[in-house]
Amino acid sequence: MYQPSEMANFMNALYAFNKQLKAQIIAGETPTRLPLDLLKLHSAEMTEGKYRSQNWRSFVNVFITSQEAVMDTLQNKDLKTLYNTAIGNCLSCHKTECTGPIPKIKKLLIQ
Ligand code: HEC
Repeated sequence: MYQPSEMANFMNALYAFNKQLKAQIIAGETPTRLPLDLLKLHSAEMTEGKYRSQNWRSFVNVFITSQEAVMDTLQNKDLKTLYNTAIGNCLSCHKTECTGPIPKIKKLLIQ
C-alpha cells in the first residue's frame, strides 16, 4: 500500500491551507492565522529517494518568510501580491524538486 511521507502529508496540508487563503483573499477577508508549523519543512521525513537538495535549501526559508508575510497585518502591501509571492516560491522549489504538482500549484495563483 502507498504510504505518503510525513513531508507529502505536510505539503498537502500546505496546499489545502493556501486554497482556503485564496478564497478568503478573493472574498476581501484578511487572514490572520497560520495554523501550520512551517518549521516542519526542516524536520519532516521525505519520501524515500527524496532529499533536501541545494535548490530546496535555497528556497525553503524564502518560502517560509513569504508565507508568514501573508498573515502579517503590519505588512504595507496588498494581500494578493503577498499571497502570489508565496505561491511563486512554492513553484520555485518545485521546478527542480518535485515537478508533478506544478499544474495544481499554479491554480492557486490569484489572477
Ligand atoms: C523548499 C521546497 C518546497 C517548497 C517551498 C514547497 N514544496 Fe511542495 N514539495 C516539495 C518536495 C521535495 C515534495 C516531495 C515530498 C515527498 O515526497 O516527501 C513536495 C510535494 C508536494 C506535493 C505532493 C504531495 C504528495 O501527495 O505527494 C504538493 C501537492 C505540494 N508539494 C504542494 C506545495 C505547495 C502548495 C507549496 C507552497 C504553499 C509547496 N508545495 C512548497 C518541495 C517544496
